[in-house]
Amino acid sequence: MKGVTVVKHPLVQHKLSLMRDKTRSTSGFRRLVREIAMLLAYEVTQDLPLTLAPIETPMEAMDAPMIEGKKLVLAPILRAGLALAEGMLELIPSARVAHVGLYRDHDTLEAIEYFFKAPHDLADRLIIVTDPMLATGNSATAAIERLKSRGARDIRYVCLLAAPEGIERMRAEHPDVPIWTASIDRGLNEKGYIMPGLGDAGDRIYGTH
Ligand code: URA
Repeated sequence: MKGVTVVKHPLVQHKLSLMRDKTRSTSGFRRLVREIAMLLAYEVTQDLPLTLAPIETPMEAMDAPMIEGKKLVLAPILRAGLALAEGMLELIPSARVAHVGLYRDHDTLEAIEYFFKAPHDLADRLIIVTDPMLATGNSATAAIERLKSRGARDIRYVCLLAAPEGIERMRAEHPDVPIWTASIDRGLNEKGYIMPGLGDAGDRIYGTH
């Protein structure tokens, strides 16, 4: 599917299956989110340009490859996206963080914003939006809209699971935003949950079910 990368690495697939299992403990689930986030961070940053910078090893001087240019911003959609962003920060500790607070109204499934705080120079940065579940696409499209209204132009979206409905919505509204996911699941149930899915990601991460 155009603009969508399914990360098929066996470690990602194995960890995702462990997370789907309803008997997984909160602490186990949280640890797996962090681990899988690091693997997804590796994938989503594959094409970052490198530049050569002079350094000295204990043996001699050399020009060593370093990531060049644009600084990264991780933009977790609160609250579940936070756990994905925290895992990614372990690999990219210098990234800035833009918090996008959205909750979904349980009746309408609409995304309601309650918090937004981002670095001022979004236009000059690569923004990686994180949310474990791309379901209806309401939160994803609202968060991206908001980031774009603040100047963001180079945006990527990372999730664990995507429903075809959410992908379609994203492709229609933000075709310039590529998506990375560990799986495209069957679809949504009548309450907007991904099937077979893994349940409510926020509840499973924070033990609030
Ligand atoms: N959000 C979740 O946490 N889980 C779903 O299945 C859909 C949206």
